[in-house]
Amino acid sequence: MKKLLIANWKMNPVFEKDAVKLAQGSDIKNTVIAPPFLFLKSIKSVLKNATLCAQDVFYEEQGAYTGEVSPLMLKKLGVKYVLVGHSERRHLGESDGMILKKMRTTLDAGLKVVLCVGEPLSVRKKGDIEVKKYIKNQLRGVSYSKSLIVAYEPIWAIGTGRYANPEDALSVVQYIKSIISVPVLYGGSTNSQNAKGFLEKKEIDGLLIGRTSLNAKEFEKIAKIAEEI
Ligand code: PGA
Repeated sequence: MKKLLIANWKMNPVFEKDAVKLAQGSDIKNTVIAPPFLFLKSIKSVLKNATLCAQDVFYEEQGAYTGEVSPLMLKKLGVKYVLVGHSERRHLGESDGMILKKMRTTLDAGLKVVLCVGEPLSVRKKGDIEVKKYIKNQLRGVSYSKSLIVAYEPIWAIGTGRYANPEDALSVVQYIKSIISVPVLYGGSTNSQNAKGFLEKKEIDGLLIGRTSLNAKEFEKIAKIAEEI
């Protein structure tokens, strides 16, 4: 499989014109762009190569759910991928149960799900075996789908500038694949300097890139590295 790069812009940028500009600069083959919901439509209209992703979704198709966005709405907009269970959403109170429901409704709608898992620092400090136990728990109830991708994102590495050792990341990625045979990405403080270390591992199928993806030139550099591997 070609390496997959997903740009998770989170709640950035603030203005639509900046989002469209960033999308135009990041419109590269084999990449996926996850902008804020509000900008999905205008970004869809300018993308020629990259694929569109949503950062979250709700677990019902429609109804009285104030403020929520359904998988069917996303599909209609041309979205192909949805991030589910990002640690920043789990931190805001999303439970494993909600995440499972989101996953199922989204897969049923015919979209691809990128399920995010990863341990906090307190667990990492206890060592590899505890990390794997933690991840196994997060994967409880998750069943195989050809539209499922898992992103391994250690919480202590997200937005901190502190990235996992590629060997440690590989060990967890292999473990995830031993439980569920789907593509697995790494995420957490990746940039054009450290991307190669992850991408050159055969079993790491790509990267989920946060902060660095807000810089189109840096994102393009990572895409070049992925292409050359
Ligand atoms: P980061 O974010 O690259 O800024 O660490 C990754 C993510 O949260 O998906």
